[in-house]
Amino acid sequence: METLRIGVIGLGCRGYGLIYDAIVPQENARITAVCDLYPDRVEEHKNKLTAHYGEEVIGFADYRDLLASGLVDAVIVSTSWEAHVTIACAAMEAGIPVGCEVGGAYSVDDCYRLVRTWERTKTPFMFLENCNYDRRETSLFAMVKAGLFGKVVACDGGYMHDLRSEVCYGEENRHYRLRNYLARNGENYPTHELGPIMKMLNINRGNRMVSLVSVASGAFGMNAYMQDKDPTHPTATAKFHQGDVVTTIITCEGGETITLRLDTCLPRYYSRGITVHGTKALYTEDNDTLFIDKEHEKYDWDAKALWGNFRELAKPYQNNDWNEVDGGKKVAGHGGMDYFMMRDFFTRLLAGEAPAIDVYDAAAMMVITPLSQQSIAQGGAPVAIPDFTGGYYLIRK
Ligand SMILES: NC(=O)c1ccc[n+]([C@@H]2O[C@H](COP(=O)([O-])OP(=O)(O)OC[C@H]3O[C@@H](n4cnc5c(N)ncnc54)[C@H](O)[C@@H]3O)[C@@H](O)[C@H]2O)c1
Repeated sequence: METLRIGVIGLGCRGYGLIYDAIVPQENARITAVCDLYPDRVEEHKNKLTAHYGEEVIGFADYRDLLASGLVDAVIVSTSWEAHVTIACAAMEAGIPVGCEVGGAYSVDDCYRLVRTWERTKTPFMFLENCNYDRRETSLFAMVKAGLFGKVVACDGGYMHDLRSEVCYGEENRHYRLRNYLARNGENYPTHELGPIMKMLNINRGNRMVSLVSVASGAFGMNAYMQDKDPTHPTATAKFHQGDVVTTIITCEGGETITLRLDTCLPRYYSRGITVHGTKALYTEDNDTLFIDKEHEKYDWDAKALWGNFRELAKPYQNNDWNEVDGGKKVAGHGGMDYFMMRDFFTRLLAGEAPAIDVYDAAAMMVITPLSQQSIAQGGAPVAIPDFTGGYYLIRK
């Protein structure tokens, strides 16, 4: 099989971006089917893609019909969060490899369902955590591997993204986040920072996350935003459950801590706030600075002399994807990481290789959401994190 026939399930904002930025430009894949609950979205992409390929792309309202159609070799699931596990499991049961978009789970049981289905079917499953393919993160992986940080002791990260408009106008935009912010309170989107941090700390490959504590601030940001912008809108007075800022601290078996911050309800600039702190060096994303012990003078930090030095220092560690970009390759999708992630998924599928971010990694990331909800509800109580590998994390490479 030279070219993979791809079905895309979930045609909202993300489905749109993945289709045109990350899948259509690939040489070894071609979209043959699309699916969404909204007929207008199916119609739009079916028509656009049929015109693009010059061959009919088939639209489906029900993902089960798509899976049974014989039209696809693999599917991408880019639906709202609550449908991820059910659709991914149905695809694996049908023997159709699946790339599943990110998001937290709704229960620990959901995560076990995913893992057990993969263990039974062995159908390839990849968790589409695109930040593991970004320029900064891939350079950090190489630096950690080369020992530049010494023993990595503590990592921080966050999903810090002003989503006030997206959430408050969720009804008009038919967007799933609104119902989640109204009903739930937890670390609902841990994966963009946790995916890269897990890789740096060898989670599921010699190390594991053992427990977490999670606390949430009150919910003020959404109402304040809408009272200012659109005071008669229902979300100006709706009761949001989701705390504006959720802080989660995870303890790992290897003695490391991971601090996550979900910060999506207040005005702010976008950041994933990655910090890597080891016995030999410190990296902080917010001023893009690398501080190396014995090389940098600690009081330079105050003088801001080092701020922004990471890009230069990271050059020798840059991977081939980003060397291609610097060499002139045009890529799209969050600056290119979406394209590289999808290329890696398809290339490994065609080569019969295991995906880079597997079902155990997915479960470990997704379970943070229900466990953080549990911890917050108990006033920040410690909650144990399951080992989905059943002890195999000690020997997995
Ligand atoms: N990796 C990234 O950078 C990134 C960025 C944005 C969103 N996402 C993820 O992508 C997913 C979608 O986000 P979005 O912003 O596009 O949401 P959206 O609400 O705009 O779109 C979701 C779509 O899924 C469809 N859908 C829901 N259940 C379905 C089902 N059973 N069958 C078929 N279609 C179904 C909905 O009708 C909707 O059109 C989420 O999981 C989100 O976390 C990832």
